Amino acid sequence: MYYSCFGLANTKALLTRALRDGYAVPAFNFYNMETLLAILRAADITQSPIILQVSEEALNYMTPDILMGMIAGAKYKPNRVALHLDHGHSFEVCKRAIDIGFSSVMFDGSKLPLSENVKISRRVADYAHKFDVSVETELGVLGGIEDSNTKSDSQFYTDPTIVKDFVKQTQTDSLAVAIGTAHGAYKIKNKNAKLRFDILEQIANNIPKTPLVLHGASSIPQKFITTINKFGGDITGARGIGASQLRHAISLHITKINVDSDSRLAFTAAVRETLAHEPKVFNPREYLTNAMDAITKNCIDEIQNIMGSGYKI
Ligand code: G3H
Ligand code: 13P
Ligand code: ZN
Repeated sequence: MYYSCFGLANTKALLTRALRDGYAVPAFNFYNMETLLAILRAADITQSPIILQVSEEALNYMTPDILMGMIAGAKYKPNRVALHLDHGHSFEVCKRAIDIGFSSVMFDGSKLPLSENVKISRRVADYAHKFDVSVETELGVLGGIEDSNTKSDSQFYTDPTIVKDFVKQTQTDSLAVAIGTAHGAYKIKNKNAKLRFDILEQIANNIPKTPLVLHGASSIPQKFITTINKFGGDITGARGIGASQLRHAISLHITKINVDSDSRLAFTAAVRETLAHEPKVFNPREYLTNAMDAITKNCIDEIQNIMGSGYKI
Protein backbone atom coordinates (compact mmCIF):
# COMPACT_ATOMS: atom_id res chain seq x y z
CA MET A 1 0.00 0.00 0.00
CA TYR A 2 1.55 3.31 -1.02
CA TYR A 3 1.06 6.74 0.45
CA SER A 4 -1.10 8.12 -2.33
CA CYS A 5 -3.73 5.45 -1.59
CA PHE A 6 -4.23 7.23 1.76
CA GLY A 7 -4.58 10.64 0.08
CA LEU A 8 -1.22 11.61 1.61
CA ALA A 9 0.87 14.33 0.03
CA ASN A 10 4.30 14.06 -1.55
CA THR A 11 6.56 15.64 1.05
CA LYS A 12 9.10 16.93 -1.45
CA ALA A 13 6.33 18.75 -3.32
CA LEU A 14 5.17 20.42 -0.08
CA LEU A 15 8.71 21.49 0.79
CA THR A 16 9.65 22.69 -2.69
CA ARG A 17 6.61 24.92 -2.73
CA ALA A 18 7.42 26.25 0.77
CA LEU A 19 11.00 27.02 -0.26
CA ARG A 20 9.78 28.87 -3.34
CA ASP A 21 7.20 30.90 -1.42
CA GLY A 22 9.21 31.56 1.76
CA TYR A 23 7.34 29.75 4.52
CA ALA A 24 7.87 26.55 6.54
CA VAL A 25 5.74 23.43 6.60
CA PRO A 26 5.09 22.49 10.22
CA ALA A 27 6.12 18.96 11.13
CA PHE A 28 4.30 17.94 14.31
CA ASN A 29 5.01 14.62 16.04
CA PHE A 30 2.14 12.41 17.17
CA TYR A 31 1.90 9.13 19.07
CA ASN A 32 -1.77 8.38 19.65
CA MET A 33 -5.26 9.17 18.40
CA GLU A 34 -5.55 12.33 20.47
CA THR A 35 -2.34 13.93 19.21
CA LEU A 36 -3.13 12.93 15.61
CA LEU A 37 -6.64 14.40 15.66
CA ALA A 38 -5.50 17.56 17.45
CA ILE A 39 -2.85 18.28 14.81
CA LEU A 40 -5.18 17.51 11.90
CA ARG A 41 -7.77 19.85 13.36
CA ALA A 42 -5.19 22.66 13.52
CA ALA A 43 -4.22 22.03 9.88
CA ASP A 44 -7.85 22.15 8.87
CA ILE A 45 -8.64 25.36 10.77
CA THR A 46 -5.58 27.16 9.41
CA GLN A 47 -5.80 25.59 5.92
CA SER A 48 -2.12 24.72 6.24
CA PRO A 49 -0.08 21.96 4.67
CA ILE A 50 1.23 19.71 7.42
CA ILE A 51 3.67 16.91 8.03
CA LEU A 52 2.57 14.31 10.55
CA GLN A 53 5.68 12.82 12.11
CA VAL A 54 6.17 9.47 13.78
CA SER A 55 9.43 8.56 15.49
CA GLU A 56 10.67 4.97 15.55
CA GLU A 57 9.61 4.76 19.19
CA ALA A 58 6.16 6.18 18.40
CA LEU A 59 5.77 3.70 15.54
CA ASN A 60 6.45 0.81 17.90
CA TYR A 61 4.19 2.35 20.54
CA MET A 62 1.18 2.67 18.21
CA THR A 63 2.08 -0.43 16.16
CA PRO A 64 2.12 -0.06 12.36
CA ASP A 65 -1.37 -1.53 11.88
CA ILE A 66 -3.10 0.76 14.37
CA LEU A 67 -1.19 3.77 13.05
CA MET A 68 -2.12 3.17 9.43
CA GLY A 69 -5.69 2.33 10.47
CA MET A 70 -5.93 5.76 12.07
CA ILE A 71 -4.45 7.45 8.99
CA ALA A 72 -6.92 5.58 6.77
CA GLY A 73 -9.82 6.64 8.99
CA ALA A 74 -8.80 10.24 9.56
CA LYS A 75 -10.41 13.02 7.57
CA TYR A 76 -8.10 15.49 5.85
CA LYS A 77 -7.78 17.28 2.55
CA PRO A 78 -5.91 15.07 0.05
CA ASN A 79 -2.40 16.17 -0.85
CA ARG A 80 -2.06 18.62 2.00
CA VAL A 81 -1.03 16.17 4.72
CA ALA A 82 2.18 14.14 4.58
CA LEU A 83 3.18 11.24 6.82
CA HIS A 84 6.85 11.17 7.74
CA LEU A 85 9.13 8.81 9.63
CA ASP A 86 11.15 10.93 12.07
CA HIS A 87 14.71 9.83 12.99
CA GLY A 88 14.80 6.42 11.34
CA HIS A 89 18.08 4.88 12.44
CA SER A 90 18.44 2.06 9.92
CA PHE A 91 17.69 1.22 6.30
CA GLU A 92 15.30 -1.46 7.54
CA VAL A 93 13.06 0.84 9.56
CA CYS A 94 12.93 3.35 6.67
CA LYS A 95 11.99 0.55 4.25
CA ARG A 96 9.29 -0.66 6.62
CA ALA A 97 7.76 2.83 6.82
CA ILE A 98 7.85 3.21 3.01
CA ASP A 99 6.24 -0.20 2.56
CA ILE A 100 3.30 0.56 4.85
CA GLY A 101 2.45 3.92 3.26
CA PHE A 102 4.60 6.77 4.61
CA SER A 103 5.13 9.63 2.19
CA SER A 104 8.63 10.37 3.44
CA VAL A 105 11.30 9.06 5.75
CA MET A 106 14.22 10.53 7.61
CA PHE A 107 17.36 8.48 7.77
CA ASP A 108 19.31 9.85 10.71
CA GLY A 109 22.92 8.88 10.26
CA SER A 110 24.18 11.98 12.00
CA LYS A 111 26.09 10.06 14.63
CA LEU A 112 27.73 7.70 12.15
CA PRO A 113 31.06 8.33 10.48
CA LEU A 114 30.43 10.50 7.40
CA SER A 115 31.12 7.71 4.89
CA GLU A 116 28.59 5.40 6.62
CA ASN A 117 26.04 8.21 6.79
CA VAL A 118 26.46 8.81 3.03
CA LYS A 119 26.26 5.11 2.19
CA ILE A 120 23.08 4.33 4.11
CA SER A 121 21.41 7.64 3.21
CA ARG A 122 21.95 6.80 -0.48
CA ARG A 123 20.62 3.28 -0.03
CA VAL A 124 17.47 4.68 1.61
CA ALA A 125 17.08 7.30 -1.15
CA ASP A 126 17.47 4.72 -3.92
CA TYR A 127 14.77 2.53 -2.39
CA ALA A 128 12.43 5.43 -1.48
CA HIS A 129 12.61 7.11 -4.88
CA LYS A 130 11.35 3.95 -6.59
CA PHE A 131 8.05 4.66 -4.85
CA ASP A 132 8.14 8.45 -5.17
CA VAL A 133 8.79 8.65 -1.42
CA SER A 134 10.94 11.58 -0.25
CA VAL A 135 13.99 11.37 1.97
CA GLU A 136 15.41 13.62 4.68
CA THR A 137 18.93 13.10 5.98
CA GLU A 138 21.01 14.84 8.63
CA LEU A 139 24.49 16.32 8.79
CA GLY A 140 25.79 17.57 12.13
CA VAL A 141 24.52 16.45 15.54
CA LEU A 142 21.84 18.19 17.58
CA GLY A 143 22.16 18.65 21.32
CA GLY A 144 19.58 17.45 23.82
CA ILE A 145 18.29 13.87 23.59
CA GLU A 146 20.63 13.07 20.68
CA ASP A 147 23.62 14.53 22.46
CA SER A 148 26.15 12.10 23.90
CA ASN A 149 28.17 15.09 25.10
CA THR A 150 31.36 13.56 23.95
CA LYS A 151 31.95 15.84 20.99
CA SER A 152 33.46 19.27 20.89
CA ASP A 153 31.19 22.20 20.08
CA SER A 154 32.21 22.58 16.45
CA GLN A 155 31.47 18.91 15.71
CA PHE A 156 27.82 19.50 16.58
CA TYR A 157 27.29 22.07 13.85
CA THR A 158 26.76 21.19 10.21
CA ASP A 159 29.88 21.87 8.16
CA PRO A 160 28.70 24.11 5.29
CA THR A 161 31.64 23.12 3.12
CA ILE A 162 30.49 19.51 2.75
CA VAL A 163 26.74 19.90 2.25
CA LYS A 164 26.89 20.15 -1.53
CA ASP A 165 28.77 16.87 -1.92
CA PHE A 166 26.57 15.23 0.69
CA VAL A 167 23.38 16.14 -1.16
CA LYS A 168 24.85 15.01 -4.48
CA GLN A 169 26.17 11.71 -3.15
CA THR A 170 23.09 10.79 -1.13
CA GLN A 171 20.42 12.17 -3.52
CA THR A 172 18.56 13.37 -0.43
CA ASP A 173 15.45 15.49 -0.97
CA SER A 174 15.90 17.62 2.16
CA LEU A 175 18.63 18.14 4.72
CA ALA A 176 18.40 18.52 8.50
CA VAL A 177 21.02 20.92 9.77
CA ALA A 178 22.54 21.50 13.19
CA ILE A 179 22.76 25.23 13.97
CA GLY A 180 22.39 25.25 17.75
CA THR A 181 18.95 23.79 18.47
CA ALA A 182 18.45 20.76 20.72
CA HIS A 183 15.69 18.23 21.25
CA GLY A 184 13.56 18.32 24.37
CA ALA A 185 12.45 21.07 26.75
CA TYR A 186 15.90 22.27 27.89
CA LYS A 187 17.41 23.75 24.76
CA ILE A 188 19.41 26.72 25.86
CA LYS A 189 20.90 27.74 29.20
CA ASN A 190 21.32 31.39 28.29
CA LYS A 191 18.08 33.00 27.16
CA ASN A 192 19.98 35.39 24.88
CA ALA A 193 21.70 32.55 23.00
CA LYS A 194 21.36 32.85 19.22
CA LEU A 195 21.21 30.16 16.62
CA ARG A 196 24.18 30.03 14.23
CA PHE A 197 22.60 31.95 11.36
CA ASP A 198 26.05 32.46 9.84
CA ILE A 199 26.32 28.70 9.31
CA LEU A 200 22.74 28.45 8.04
CA GLU A 201 23.34 31.21 5.52
CA GLN A 202 26.42 29.46 4.14
CA ILE A 203 24.51 26.19 3.86
CA ALA A 204 21.63 27.92 2.05
CA ASN A 205 24.09 29.54 -0.36
CA ASN A 206 25.84 26.24 -1.08
CA ILE A 207 22.66 24.21 -1.68
CA PRO A 208 20.05 26.85 -2.64
CA LYS A 209 17.58 24.35 -4.10
CA THR A 210 17.54 21.95 -1.14
CA PRO A 211 14.81 22.43 1.48
CA LEU A 212 16.44 22.62 4.94
CA VAL A 213 14.99 21.11 8.09
CA LEU A 214 15.20 22.39 11.66
CA HIS A 215 14.90 19.79 14.41
CA GLY A 216 14.57 20.70 18.08
CA ALA A 217 12.56 23.77 17.13
CA SER A 218 9.97 23.87 19.89
CA SER A 219 9.36 27.29 21.43
CA ILE A 220 8.62 25.84 24.90
CA PRO A 221 5.83 28.33 25.72
CA GLN A 222 6.36 29.41 29.29
CA LYS A 223 2.62 29.32 30.06
CA PHE A 224 2.76 25.51 29.84
CA ILE A 225 5.82 25.34 32.10
CA THR A 226 4.08 27.55 34.67
CA THR A 227 0.91 25.44 34.62
CA ILE A 228 2.77 22.14 34.85
CA ASN A 229 4.91 23.34 37.75
CA LYS A 230 1.89 24.88 39.49
CA PHE A 231 -0.06 21.62 39.41
CA GLY A 232 2.54 19.20 40.70
CA GLY A 233 5.10 18.96 37.90
CA ASP A 234 8.74 19.92 37.99
CA ILE A 235 10.30 21.07 34.76
CA THR A 236 12.01 24.14 36.03
CA GLY A 237 14.35 25.95 33.67
CA ALA A 238 12.85 24.65 30.42
CA ARG A 239 13.46 27.07 27.56
CA GLY A 240 12.97 26.97 23.78
CA ILE A 241 13.65 28.82 20.55
CA GLY A 242 11.88 32.18 20.21
CA ALA A 243 9.47 32.86 17.35
CA SER A 244 11.62 35.63 15.87
CA GLN A 245 14.64 33.32 15.58
CA LEU A 246 12.49 30.69 13.89
CA ARG A 247 11.12 33.22 11.43
CA HIS A 248 14.65 34.35 10.65
CA ALA A 249 15.62 30.71 10.03
CA ILE A 250 12.73 30.42 7.56
CA SER A 251 14.13 33.38 5.62
CA LEU A 252 17.36 31.35 5.28
CA HIS A 253 15.69 28.29 3.68
CA ILE A 254 14.44 26.36 6.70
CA THR A 255 11.30 24.89 5.13
CA LYS A 256 10.38 22.13 7.61
CA ILE A 257 10.18 22.93 11.32
CA ASN A 258 9.96 20.02 13.73
CA VAL A 259 7.88 20.43 16.86
CA ASP A 260 7.21 17.71 19.41
CA SER A 261 8.00 19.03 22.89
CA ASP A 262 5.50 21.92 22.64
CA SER A 263 2.64 19.47 22.05
CA ARG A 264 3.82 17.28 24.91
CA LEU A 265 3.86 20.29 27.21
CA ALA A 266 0.43 21.51 26.05
CA PHE A 267 -1.00 18.02 26.62
CA THR A 268 0.56 17.57 30.05
CA ALA A 269 -0.37 21.06 31.25
CA ALA A 270 -4.02 20.52 30.28
CA VAL A 271 -4.20 17.10 31.96
CA ARG A 272 -2.57 18.33 35.16
CA GLU A 273 -4.78 21.39 35.34
CA THR A 274 -8.01 19.47 34.68
CA LEU A 275 -7.25 16.82 37.27
CA ALA A 276 -6.20 19.40 39.84
CA HIS A 277 -9.37 21.48 39.34
CA GLU A 278 -11.73 18.56 39.06
CA PRO A 279 -10.73 15.89 41.58
CA LYS A 280 -13.86 13.85 40.90
CA VAL A 281 -13.06 13.36 37.21
CA PHE A 282 -11.90 9.89 36.34
CA ASN A 283 -13.23 9.56 32.79
CA PRO A 284 -10.13 9.92 30.57
CA ARG A 285 -12.25 11.34 27.76
CA GLU A 286 -12.78 14.47 29.83
CA TYR A 287 -9.16 15.33 30.41
CA LEU A 288 -8.03 14.02 27.03
CA THR A 289 -10.51 16.34 25.31
CA ASN A 290 -8.90 19.27 27.11
CA ALA A 291 -5.45 17.96 26.14
CA MET A 292 -6.48 17.76 22.47
CA ASP A 293 -7.86 21.29 22.57
CA ALA A 294 -4.61 22.56 24.09
CA ILE A 295 -2.51 20.96 21.34
CA THR A 296 -4.79 22.23 18.58
CA LYS A 297 -4.64 25.77 19.95
CA ASN A 298 -0.86 25.70 20.24
CA CYS A 299 -0.40 24.27 16.73
CA ILE A 300 -2.67 27.01 15.35
CA ASP A 301 -0.59 29.66 17.18
CA GLU A 302 2.65 28.29 15.76
CA ILE A 303 1.28 27.95 12.23
CA GLN A 304 0.10 31.56 12.32
CA ASN A 305 2.97 33.19 14.23
CA ILE A 306 5.97 31.17 13.08
CA MET A 307 5.45 28.95 10.02
CA GLY A 308 3.42 31.31 7.83
CA SER A 309 1.94 28.25 6.16
CA GLY A 310 -1.78 29.00 6.55
CA TYR A 311 -3.90 29.21 3.39
CA LYS A 312 -0.92 28.23 1.21
CA ILE A 313 -2.51 25.19 -0.43
O1 G3H B 1 13.19 14.13 17.75
C1 G3H B 1 12.66 13.38 18.59
C2 G3H B 1 11.21 13.41 18.78
O2 G3H B 1 10.88 14.37 19.76
C3 G3H B 1 10.65 12.05 19.06
O3 G3H B 1 10.81 11.63 20.37
O4 G3H B 1 11.53 9.24 20.16
O5 G3H B 1 10.45 10.08 22.25
O6 G3H B 1 9.10 9.80 20.17
P1 G3H B 1 10.45 10.09 20.76
P1 13P C 1 11.48 19.44 19.93
O1 13P C 1 11.95 18.57 21.05
O2 13P C 1 12.10 20.79 19.98
O3 13P C 1 10.01 19.53 19.85
O4 13P C 1 12.01 18.78 18.56
C1 13P C 1 11.25 17.81 17.91
C2 13P C 1 12.01 17.19 16.79
O5 13P C 1 13.05 17.64 16.34
C3 13P C 1 11.43 15.98 16.21
O6 13P C 1 12.25 15.42 15.24
ZN1 ZN D 1 14.36 15.65 15.65
